Amino acid sequence: MPDADAIAKLQARIRELARERDAVLIAHNYQRPEIQDVADFTGDSLGLSRQAAATDARVIVFAGVHFMAETAKILAPEKRVLLPEPRAGCPMADMITGEELAAWRAEHPGIPVVTYVNSSAEVKSHSDVCVTSANAVEVVRALGAERVLFAPDRNLGRWVARSLPGVEVLLWEGWCPTHDEVTVEQVQAARVEHPDARVMVHPECRPEVVDLADVVLSTSQMLRYAATEPADEFIVVTESGLTHALHKAAPGKRFFELRPRMLCPNMKLTTLAKVHDALVHDRFAVEVPADVAARARVAVERMVAIG
Ligand code: 13P
Ligand code: SF4
Repeated sequence: MPDADAIAKLQARIRELARERDAVLIAHNYQRPEIQDVADFTGDSLGLSRQAAATDARVIVFAGVHFMAETAKILAPEKRVLLPEPRAGCPMADMITGEELAAWRAEHPGIPVVTYVNSSAEVKSHSDVCVTSANAVEVVRALGAERVLFAPDRNLGRWVARSLPGVEVLLWEGWCPTHDEVTVEQVQAARVEHPDARVMVHPECRPEVVDLADVVLSTSQMLRYAATEPADEFIVVTESGLTHALHKAAPGKRFFELRPRMLCPNMKLTTLAKVHDALVHDRFAVEVPADVAARARVAVERMVAIG
């Protein structure tokens, strides 16, 4: 682990390079603290999609995972989108292919296909509308359909189903390993240790874990909640990277992680050195075939317009 001085120097160099290259640096809330601190924007999937769509910069350096950089490319096709670590994928996004979604859709003609943004561009291109964890309930409500197909996260789909009892949600069997592994016992143990803390749970967790929550929120919604809620202590049931952002959003408050800590190995593959190298070598560019991007854009823009 480099010392604080080395980190500060590398961060200063990254800022310089970003200016020279006309690049904007966008980082997800699960990224390493030193990457969050050097980024122009941090946020959840919805916030980052909006930043990507709005930027005037020529280059977008995306510190996150592959589907996020693809979403940026879909929304800003004329920009150069760089993913500093090309192996940073998402196991949940890999649990469905475009072909599989097209076949599922064909089995259920006329039923709208709702796809979590944690999916490939190809999968999005077979969807009617995308959602994030921040707006899934709102977007499905706005569709006004009696039944929807929901992919790939069965847990987020279940959260939508219980929030909208009038809608039948048909689920694809996908999940996030980092969130799906959380157990009731882990959350109960944290509650016993910190009885005054509010429990914030991400909707990628299983329903029995969601049942133990005081609030079910996306990562940026957790940041806002911690900053505005009168409580001083919070149990955080999402990936560990958010703790750094929480301390910045609500200084002086106390945040407790589960044991063992929740870690997404893919989110941690990106390092400050790789962000630096991406800017120096102009790599690794993310491309989406124009026809796929055009179809996927309709689903993503429909989401951005609603939620
Ligand atoms: P949000 O930051 O949109 O809540 O997403 C969580 C996540 O798992 C992203 O991979
Ligand atoms: Fe995928 Fe889960 Fe990692 Fe998010 S936290 S990138 S959903 S594996």
